[in-house]
Amino acid sequence: KKGNYDHYMQKEIHEQPDSLTTTMRGRLIRGGGDKVKGVLLGGLKDHLKTIRRSRRILFIGCGTSYHAGLATRALVEELSGVPVTMELASDLLDRQGPIYREDTAFFVSQSGETADTLQALEYAKACGALCVGVTNTVGSAIARGTHCGVHINAGCEIGVASTKAYTSQIAAMTMMALALGEDTLSSRNRREAIIDDLFNLPNMVEEVLKLDSDMKVLAQELMDEQSLLVFGRGYNYATALEGALKVKEVALMHSEGILAGEMKHGPLALVDETLPIIVIATRDATCSKQQSVIQQLQARKGRLIVICSKGDANVMCPNGGCRVIEVPQLQDCLQPIINIVPFQLLAYHLTVLRGFNVDQPRNLAKSVTTS
Ligand code: M6R
Repeated sequence: KKGNYDHYMQKEIHEQPDSLTTTMRGRLIRGGGDKVKGVLLGGLKDHLKTIRRSRRILFIGCGTSYHAGLATRALVEELSGVPVTMELASDLLDRQGPIYREDTAFFVSQSGETADTLQALEYAKACGALCVGVTNTVGSAIARGTHCGVHINAGCEIGVASTKAYTSQIAAMTMMALALGEDTLSSRNRREAIIDDLFNLPNMVEEVLKLDSDMKVLAQELMDEQSLLVFGRGYNYATALEGALKVKEVALMHSEGILAGEMKHGPLALVDETLPIIVIATRDATCSKQQSVIQQLQARKGRLIVICSKGDANVMCPNGGCRVIEVPQLQDCLQPIINIVPFQLLAYHLTVLRGFNVDQPRNLAKSVTTS
């Protein structure tokens, strides 16, 4: 039921404080007394040793689920020490990429029924890899076909555009990274800081949802545009890809997510006074690089919309001249969950204003069961 909302997508965006709470319920241990602060993932606990000993981890998925893997890749590498390779399921199948018995392959899928991801699972199983499912659908083909896994428990997602499943996938995979790192003493402070912020996450998402009316105003300004670019890097390269996918998928506006580090290698030629460009520049190890990206875009009179951490507007845009969206700040690895929300809201309002079908975009299906 849509309740007080006009569309499922809108409802699912606003539901995220609750869906994230459900994803984490019973899995976070606060610590204190004789309890150690940590995470408990029942479906993985017997396999953690094997995963830590893998020669390589693969994240395999399509669309938004691939982006969720990309958003958590760096943290899994940091906490487990195991290299993570990203694979779009269709591309892995097209080239029959090598997979080994010493690999662990994670299959990320909201529906658990996506044909390409399912075929990649059969392929990886035949190669002898340990196969782990990250799905939202209990009893789905991918949940059944993998050796073990994590349910993201985001609740049923009806809108074709994935919103709450994306943020829950990131939360679940962050908990997975924490579990993989739990025997490493040197990362203990880092892990505890992330866990503290996970407890805080639903409130922070509630906070960022207050940008709804600002994003509606931005959508009104952008609704007649042909095209939109999104620059991100580090943890938020995934946000750039996912934000652009949301806009193109439902608002039917051309939109492209670009790794900011690649800007000078081609995309810079597109910059002029008219093309809207969103730059994600929240506080993390890459934000000084994003500051210089902003300067270079401003030097070319780019039409900029900057997403930065609360209080950073003057630092990121010292000369004014760009529209700034301030978001709450969490640990760097959790920031993609916060940063995607303004894009979800923007895509939603653009779609309504442009008069397109929000929940059933043309030519798309919720679950892509043919390859
Ligand atoms: O059910 P899955 O997560 O396997 O679906 C994968 C993609 O088809 C899906 O994420 C698609 O990209 C979404 N409609 C994007 O919003």
